[in-house]
Amino acid sequence: MSVTPADVAVVLDHVHKTYGGEQPVVALDDVSAVFMRGTSTAVMGPSGSGKSTLLHCAAGLDRPDSGRVRIGATDLSSLSEKKLTELRRSRVGFVFQAFNLVGALDVEQNILLPSRLSGHRPESAWVAEVIGRVGLGDRLRHRPAQLSGGQQQRVAIARALVTRPEVIFCDEPTGALDTRTAAEVLALLRSVVDRDGQTVVMVTHDPVAASYADRVLFLADGRIVRDMAQPGAERIAEHLALLGRRQPAVSREG
Ligand SMILES: Nc1ncnc2c1ncn2[C@@H]1O[C@H](COP(=O)(O)OP(=O)(O)OP(=O)(O)O)[C@@H](O)[C@H]1O
Ligand SMILES: [Mg+2]
Repeated sequence: MSVTPADVAVVLDHVHKTYGGEQPVVALDDVSAVFMRGTSTAVMGPSGSGKSTLLHCAAGLDRPDSGRVRIGATDLSSLSEKKLTELRRSRVGFVFQAFNLVGALDVEQNILLPSRLSGHRPESAWVAEVIGRVGLGDRLRHRPAQLSGGQQQRVAIARALVTRPEVIFCDEPTGALDTRTAAEVLALLRSVVDRDGQTVVMVTHDPVAASYADRVLFLADGRIVRDMAQPGAERIAEHLALLGRRQPAVSREG
C-alpha cells in the first residue's frame, strides 16, 4: 500500500524551536514527524522534553524558528497571523488538560463557539449527533461550573469535533481526571478515530492513556528518540523510566 499526500494529516519537517531570554532553551531540536490521517498518536517524554512545544508548533499556536509544518497541503509558515487564526478555528481541534471552556456560556454555546467564530454554521444534524455521542444531551443549558471534570472534558471534545477538523490536538486531556473518567474520555477519543477517521495527536504522561493510541512518539531533550507502534502500557512505562534515567543530573541550586 503506497502513501498518497491525501493520507497525511500533519507533517513536521526539521522543526527547531528555541525560547529566548538570558539562557536560551532549545525546546525542539530538529524534529521531523508525519501523522497519518485516521490514526492516533501519543507523544510522551519527561517534563520539559518539548511535548507541548511540539503540539503548539504542529497546531499553529506557535511558530518554529526553522523547519516547516504542514496541515494537509497547507504550509503554516506561509500563512499570515490572520490566516493562521482562521486555520486554527476551522481545520484544527484542541482539547486541553484544563478544559478551557468559557464559564459564562452554557454547554451548547461552548460547543458551537469555534463555528460561530469562524462563521461556518455546522449542520444541525451533525451537532445533535456529536452532542449525543459525548452524552451531554441532558446538560445543554448547564454552565461548565455545574459539570463534573469528565463532563467538561466531553464538552471540550464535542467543541473540537463539531467543526470536523482535520486533526485534533490534545495536551494531557486526562491529566485532571480520575482513572475511570479518564478511561471514558480516552474511549471517546479512540471512537472518533475508529468511527469518523479522525486524526488525533495527544500529549500524555500516562502510559495507560498512551496505550489507546496507534503509535507512541517519545521525546527527550527536544528530540524524537523513539517511535513505537501500538506498545502496551507496560512497555511504554518501561521506556519512560529509561528516558527518565537518561536525563542529565541538573543542579537545582542557584
Ligand atoms: N514560553 C516559553 N518561554 C521560555 N521557555 C519555554 C517556554 N515554553 C517552554 N519553554 C521551555 O521549553 C522546554 C520544553 O517545554 P515544553 O512545555 O514543551 O515541555 P513538556 O514536555 O510539555 O513538559 P511538561 O511535561 O512539563 O508539560 C522546557 O525546558 C521549557 O522550560
Ligand atoms: Mg507540556
